[in-house]
Amino acid sequence: MTSAPGAAHPGPGPHLQAESETLDALGRTPKEAAPVTSALGPEPVDPASSISLADVQAHEAVRTFIALADRYLGELGYTEHGFRHAGLVAKIAYNVIHRLGFDDRMAELAAISGYLHDMGNFVSRTMHSQTGAAITYDILRDIGMSYGDIGIVLAAIGNHEEEFGNPVNAASAALIVADKSDVHRSRVRIKDPTLFDIHDRVNHAVEHSFLRVDSEARTLTLELTIDTELAGVMEYFEIFLSRMAMCRRAAEFLECRFKIDINGAKLL
Ligand SMILES: [Fe+2]
Ligand SMILES: [Fe+2]
Repeated sequence: MTSAPGAAHPGPGPHLQAESETLDALGRTPKEAAPVTSALGPEPVDPASSISLADVQAHEAVRTFIALADRYLGELGYTEHGFRHAGLVAKIAYNVIHRLGFDDRMAELAAISGYLHDMGNFVSRTMHSQTGAAITYDILRDIGMSYGDIGIVLAAIGNHEEEFGNPVNAASAALIVADKSDVHRSRVRIKDPTLFDIHDRVNHAVEHSFLRVDSEARTLTLELTIDTELAGVMEYFEIFLSRMAMCRRAAEFLECRFKIDINGAKLL
């Protein structure tokens, strides 16, 4: 079993809502709330597989390409996207799936997706989710992963960018929330604050970030501590609004609500 107990998966993406439609507790239309996996059967997860995140981390291509992705993004002025980001997103994605009651294999696939999701940036920032998915295929086959497991991981990587991605499986939903939760001053590379752009300023202002998973209340809460002397809450939302909207859709896929708490104030 690969789904959370009682989970009903909504369809992908936001949909136009007819005026007369009744919404459920998560604000979804009946079509969005309708389970789609029951007719298709369970996803092709390989429960017997012993291929782990550690196996993926040890692969020479993974070590080389993540280092290059971080280096090249640094050349372009982007925040840190290296082993720190990869490891943290892997850990958060694993915890989300594990705590919400999915099986262990799906949690491991979420961790692997999280670790590899930004690797394609060494080719180009543009469409890095797509190039990353293509590159990852050969690596995971080289390690000996099944096609079913690879399919779940590639779909998660290919759907993590807010411009065009949508949660399509549990690992993908967990990856989205984990990735967008990593906002922190340690990601800013530039040391001179006079050179900060808005992304640097907001990241630098975040002193603490934590994604709290409440399996009982079915909530995923991003808790942030922001130094408002350095960046305002409005600046945070200016650059993260589309990411927060994607997190809401991802949480709904996992039958949860997405919440955000900044400096102790519940804003969503
Ligand atoms: Fe990315
Ligand atoms: Fe990322």
